Amino acid sequence: MITGGSSGIGKAVAKLLAKRGANISIIARDGAKLETARQEISASIIDSQQRILAITADVTQQKAIEFALKQAIADLGRPQILITSAGIAIPGYFQELSLATFHKTMAVNYFGSLYAIKAVLPEMIAAGQGHIILISSGAGLIGLYGYTAYSSSKFALRGLAESLRGELKPHQIKVSIVYPPDTDTPQLAAENKTKPPETKLITETAQLWTAEGVAQEIIKGMIQEKFAIAPGWEMTLLNRLHSIIRELLNWYFDKIAGKYRKNK
Ligand SMILES: NC(=O)c1ccc[n+]([C@@H]2O[C@H](COP(=O)([O-])OP(=O)(O)OC[C@H]3O[C@@H](n4cnc5c(N)ncnc54)[C@H](OP(=O)(O)O)[C@@H]3O)[C@@H](O)[C@H]2O)c1
Repeated sequence: MITGGSSGIGKAVAKLLAKRGANISIIARDGAKLETARQEISASIIDSQQRILAITADVTQQKAIEFALKQAIADLGRPQILITSAGIAIPGYFQELSLATFHKTMAVNYFGSLYAIKAVLPEMIAAGQGHIILISSGAGLIGLYGYTAYSSSKFALRGLAESLRGELKPHQIKVSIVYPPDTDTPQLAAENKTKPPETKLITETAQLWTAEGVAQEIIKGMIQEKFAIAPGWEMTLLNRLHSIIRELLNWYFDKIAGKYRKNK
């Protein structure tokens, strides 16, 4: 079951899982986009018995996401894997971001993931197995200039995953958290429209990944039962050393932002 499975990283993971013989349900809001994605994912199946479902729901609506996942369970059976990829990112200067943006970002990125987990967990506990994969971000490891709303929501997911991991272990349910780097998806294209110039300068040197590349790392990490899945050397370094290198990164980011302001 993949929330946000109609686009970007979620869709790319769905295609790879379809190639491995999985039955899949993708959940998102836009019905037309979902149907196109369903057809694309269906093209990757390896067995005619495989089922690919597309269900419309807004992850911020607890009853709606619960109902959507119940529908998926009724059709496909108990979920073995839940991936919470539905997410939004609205960058901007803190002073200019509305409170509504902070509420909306937490509602989609944090509570949207939480509601989905709450909905499938009883089924996974009853089955005595399962794997929950939350999609955070590099911005969930280190706070980034221009990402006050987004980083906070992705940090919240890290706290959730870290505390949930131990609680679910006795039930043989695994928890993983993914820290994708900048990935070429519609979300990143939308972000680039409102990113402050300082944020652009800070992030422009990072390697840009494809959604397929990130999806492959997610599948690999899932098979290896890794708790933290950090694609590439930049995210691996950030995941391992973020607390240690934070001051150095802050100094470096301040230098970039300061230089921009001086030349403005
Ligand atoms: N792209 C990056 O550079 C990057 C980097 C790090 C982390 N991430 C994270 O990776 C995840 C996937 O991002 P992406 O880049 O693949 O984005 P994307 O291509 O824009 O896909 C986002 C998906 O989430 C769905 N979605 C958004 N709001 C929703 C809501 N309220 N209810 C249900 N579904 C909703 C979208 O469909 P609808 O709009 O139709 O609902 C879409 O299927 C996100 O959590 C993102 O924060 C992305």
